[in-house]
Amino acid sequence: MSSLLELKNVTKTYYLRSETIHVLNGIDLQVERGSFVVVLGPSGSGKSTLLNIMGSLDGPTSGEVFLDSSELSSYSDRALSEIRNRKIGFVFQFHHLLSEFTCIENIALPGLVNGGSPRVVYEKAASLLERLGMADKQHRLPEQLSGGEKQRVAIARSLINDPLIILADEPTGNLDEENTNKLLDIFVNLKAEGGTVVLVTHAVDIAKKGTDVYNLKEGRLYAM
Ligand SMILES: Nc1ncnc2c1ncn2[C@@H]1O[C@H](COP(=O)(O)OP(=O)(O)OP(=O)(O)O)[C@@H](O)[C@H]1O
Ligand SMILES: [Mg+2]
Repeated sequence: MSSLLELKNVTKTYYLRSETIHVLNGIDLQVERGSFVVVLGPSGSGKSTLLNIMGSLDGPTSGEVFLDSSELSSYSDRALSEIRNRKIGFVFQFHHLLSEFTCIENIALPGLVNGGSPRVVYEKAASLLERLGMADKQHRLPEQLSGGEKQRVAIARSLINDPLIILADEPTGNLDEENTNKLLDIFVNLKAEGGTVVLVTHAVDIAKKGTDVYNLKEGRLYAM
């Protein structure tokens, strides 16, 4: 069976007026179903750039990205946004929750966009919140939550459409050790249930949790 996500010789170069920045210099990666891939790299090494390309939020300068055997550049922007909504669960570094919506509304939104019936979507959003230990905070606004709680809501939101893959960008970046461990356990459980996770981070301890760990250095990936 082919990999769930595959990158072939992906490069990314930013052309600024005064300089050319080669961020990714030939990335080859296969993400198998059920794996928990961790990419480690210091600030500025290109982790977000790489994750955004994996998730079709950005295109590579050259090379190919296959999700579920289809090459992403073959799709229109509109088809890509549908693929993102249905097949990919993003967890961003700063959660990007909508401040004027409650937890449960934030989680439900991508499900409603995907055409789900409100009753079913809200039931699922409630059960995700319960699973993440936040059943009692359904109706709170993001500003009424701690950092770790906001990240758990962001994870619940990423799961509402049963994505094929979760892409997490430094999701534990501003959490204390206890909340970091809680969050990592959620990803480990997702993997145990057959889910596929790619997490990028600068935090070396997190690598222990990965099934496949890579170092991103000078625009290339090295297996650790
Ligand atoms: N739109 C852009 N235009 C020009 N350069 C960019 C752009 N986006 C990112 N870069 C540069 O590309 C490099 C990689 O950035 P990226 O955000 O992928 O790093 P990162 O590993 O995620 O860093 P951090 O850990 O700080 O989040 C950096 O040198 C950055 O300045
Ligand atoms: Mg980043």
